Amino acid sequence: MYAGFRQHLSEDTVKICIIYYSYSGVTRDIAEQISAACGGDLIEVKSRKHYTKLTVYPVGGMRASRGEHDPIDPGVIDVTDCDLLVIGTPVWAFKPTPAINAALAALTGSAGKRVVTFATCGSQAGETLDIMRNALEEKGASVIGEVVLTRRDIGNGKNVQELIGLVKGAGAPGFNIPRSGDPGSVYRPA
Ligand SMILES: Cc1cc2nc3c(=O)[nH]c(=O)nc-3n(C[C@H](O)[C@H](O)[C@H](O)COP(=O)(O)O)c2cc1C
Repeated sequence: MYAGFRQHLSEDTVKICIIYYSYSGVTRDIAEQISAACGGDLIEVKSRKHYTKLTVYPVGGMRASRGEHDPIDPGVIDVTDCDLLVIGTPVWAFKPTPAINAALAALTGSAGKRVVTFATCGSQAGETLDIMRNALEEKGASVIGEVVLTRRDIGNGKNVQELIGLVKGAGAPGFNIPRSGDPGSVYRPA
């Protein structure tokens, strides 16, 4: 089904950038699965806050709940050369991580880009993807798909495959991404 996509990628005409933050490795693993299946550059965002097991909930969780931005590396993320962005975060206190808040602010060249976002969480993503979509729309990007991956989803692989299919579909010439509703609506797996 995705032969055209692979051919397209091999011609180097669709460039995917996968931008993510991961504290304990779950989001990194998903980002690497997407890269392995779809190609694309992996850009890991590092927080200079260096949370420990003792500080990640009281400090990191509090900063996330307030919508704060961490100092990050890289400090500027230039996506001018990317055709499709995939951006992933863990959920902290029902919101994006302070590192991903900062990464969204650090994007340059993102106007007009299509974006697929995903969030990994224990069980409840809360406002995470809404906040990311608003930040991306403020930068002129359009979110075409959003996927929440709970611990259970990751265990059974279902939504992970759906996320990979969404990225493949979004990057492929001639493939329409699946839509959940009206044309132009953001796709979210059921
Ligand atoms: C500070 C903190 C806050 C969290 N808040 C939530 C939450 O609000 N809802 C939820 O379902 N999981 C929450 N989690 C669980 C993480 O979202 C989940 O384990 C995630 O997949 C971890 O991704 P990572 O390994 O890439 O860091 C929280 C974890 C941490 C460390």
